[in-house]
Amino acid sequence: MSKQRILTGITTSGTPHLGNYVGAIRPAVEASKKTDVESFYFLADYHALIKCKNPDDVHRSTLEIAASWIALGLDTDNAVFYRQSDIPQIPELMWFLNCMAAKGLMNRAHAYKASVQENEAAGEDADFGITMGLFSYPVLMAADILMFNAHQIPVGRDQIQHVEMARDIAQRFNHHYGEHFALPQALVDDDVPLLQGLDGRKMSKSYGNTIPLFLTEKQLKKHINKIKTNLLEPGEPKDPDSSSVFQIWQAFATPQQTEAMRAEFANGIAWGEAKKQLFELVNAELAPARERYQALLNAPAEIEAILQAGGEKARAQSQPLMDDVRRAVGIRPLA
Ligand code: TRP
Repeated sequence: MSKQRILTGITTSGTPHLGNYVGAIRPAVEASKKTDVESFYFLADYHALIKCKNPDDVHRSTLEIAASWIALGLDTDNAVFYRQSDIPQIPELMWFLNCMAAKGLMNRAHAYKASVQENEAAGEDADFGITMGLFSYPVLMAADILMFNAHQIPVGRDQIQHVEMARDIAQRFNHHYGEHFALPQALVDDDVPLLQGLDGRKMSKSYGNTIPLFLTEKQLKKHINKIKTNLLEPGEPKDPDSSSVFQIWQAFATPQQTEAMRAEFANGIAWGEAKKQLFELVNAELAPARERYQALLNAPAEIEAILQAGGEKARAQSQPLMDDVRRAVGIRPLA
């Protein structure tokens, strides 16, 4: 049997933060080194256009996200690391899948439904501000996945539905035109913590409560000091499980360090002291990559070369698959 394929994409909008690091980047970097699976990681820049209409932001985010992954040690020789827009077969496949995807299925996609509901709540027309890009987002994502016959798709919970839609579309295609696509499955890691942000809500770009991944030491310290805490004084026992400080600690600490900090909370560690220790822990993990990150930002040609090489590896897979699919639907030379 051939190796299992793992594939995931990262939308290139925004600057990566600690939540992205803990939830997606760190596990993917680890997985990129495994030789018993084939892993595919890509920058979903076509997806970015759905949310972000500012060209400079899309461009900058692509650079920052690529630099982050490489700086943190993504094994770009073992894994295939590429940019979605370098694979012309992806939008091509998307059209074929569009012709198989039920509109009713897309009507049920969470992101689209949420926009419709917001419009209705605001008394607007249901389709106000909704682009075809948003509506057909799950089909583009299906093309990303099916293009490489990926089996396992590591994603956050919010993306499970999209992977199931990809599976549904693949099944319809296979049923109608014969077996062409592997059926993908979402891989959701229950051990991966959903980090809280500065205000205690989920760390997310959309709440503006993030701690960016690569800050200078001074800025990192400042952000950590801004994490919301309660008014308990030094010496008063504190509840670790409701504290963002403890939660971020846990995401970076060994189990022993976590138990030690739990005891410190029970002993009434001062918030200032807990934050100081948190800064040191996070900083120690990120400091080596921070220098590489800065160096890479100043050497975009180096990143571009890595992406070009990855694109070539990816196209070696997507080109033949697309040729088969074209033939399968009846698009082939007449003689
Ligand atoms: N939509 C995903 C997100 O916002 C990113 C993504 C695009 C993706 N294509 C993908 C993830 C394919 C997994 C597989 O997080």
